[in-house]
Amino acid sequence: MANAKLAGAKSLAHQMILVTGGAGFIGANFVLDWLARAGEPLVNLDKLTYAGNLTSLASIATDARHLFVRGDIGDAGLVRSLLERHRPRAIVNFAAETHVDRSIHGPGDFIQTNVVGTFALLDCIRAWWRELPPTARDAFRFLHVSTDEVYGSLGPGDPPFSETTAYAPNSPYAASKGSSDHLVRAYHHTYGLPTLTTNCSNNYGPRQFPEKLIPLMIVNALEGRPLPVYGDGRNVRDWLYVGDHASAVRTVLEKGRPGETYNVGGNAEMANIDVVRTICRVVHARRPELDCERLVTFVKDRPGHDRRYAIDASKIRRELGWTPSETFESGLRRTIDWYLDNGDWLASVQNAEYRKWVDLQYA
Ligand code: NAD
Ligand code: DAU
Repeated sequence: MANAKLAGAKSLAHQMILVTGGAGFIGANFVLDWLARAGEPLVNLDKLTYAGNLTSLASIATDARHLFVRGDIGDAGLVRSLLERHRPRAIVNFAAETHVDRSIHGPGDFIQTNVVGTFALLDCIRAWWRELPPTARDAFRFLHVSTDEVYGSLGPGDPPFSETTAYAPNSPYAASKGSSDHLVRAYHHTYGLPTLTTNCSNNYGPRQFPEKLIPLMIVNALEGRPLPVYGDGRNVRDWLYVGDHASAVRTVLEKGRPGETYNVGGNAEMANIDVVRTICRVVHARRPELDCERLVTFVKDRPGHDRRYAIDASKIRRELGWTPSETFESGLRRTIDWYLDNGDWLASVQNAEYRKWVDLQYA
């Protein structure tokens, strides 16, 4: 793994892809999965914000098929030189600021990376792509990884989000992701860039930073700390195991139709309080000395908290043949086992900056 040394980086093999945000939760799982399955080399461009973590990629530290470059998707000079040097056949854009609560405390970084950064990335790609020979231009794909939060909030009886549901983002995070989706759409319609967009529900699994609901609850349960449930705990999310998200992204990349968007979901709608209680049960089964249900604490609600998300994933199933393979129970057991077995990873992310965030959000 060559770290941030673009100048000295050698060009990789002929066919390769560029992944952005590949040191984050979903990106790192995708990169590991990609190298294990497809075997095709990749360049991994990541800024290494608080959410990026090279420890997640330790198992491929000496793998010559993985070239890590520390940098910003908004750095046009860097992106241009990566494109010219490596000539990727596809780009998968995971890079983003992603935590809703942080976007409420400080939306600026979200606008900078998710809107301005995605624009800069798209514009570099467009300028480089239009000069490619016709066959390479036609075969090229830009896959933008987005979220179901752009669709807003559902009532209990509403039909799930489909690809034609109108955008109605409610948090600064969701608005920034919605903006980036619109830019991607415009670059396809105006310039013909072969784009693909996926809008996915809540992910969980190994290597997720413990600020999001599931890893936060696991970590707090293991440490005997309160399990903070916002509001009445009846907000509903659809949960997708991260390995299934990686397989959905691979499928859309290979079979998706340029200009299309695909909703990705886990067929696992659950109220937050039920998620937390299930975590407590699995933790208790693994560590009988830990009785975490008594740690459940209802706390002040998130401002503008979306009540329910649900995904209609029939398009990706029908057109591309993708369905998730994990149930919530099987995925959660795998996830909790991973956290129990990877104390070093956990210790590496629970640094002073993390403690500061926890104090700010939950004090
Ligand atoms: P994450 O916060 O764990 O990781 C984000 C990664 O992007 C980090 O490695 C970070 O260093 C990197 N990054 C941030 N700003 C950057 C920049 N300007 N340039 C380069 N790299 C930068 O996020 P995640 O949960 O893995 O999410 C990945 C993508 O999937 C995001 O686009 C997110 O919106 C989307 N998504 C996430 C979920 C979920 O439940 N986590 C669900 C649906 C969609
Ligand atoms: O829906 C996809 C989105 O899922 C992604 O686009 C986002 O990047 C990702 O962060 C996630 O957003 P959510 O806001 O749904 O995830 P989070 O884990 O922050 O919260 C899940 C639910 O749990 C939500 O209803 C808020 C609640 N919650 C969360 C935390 C962190 C709590 O009750 N207590 C908490 O401490």
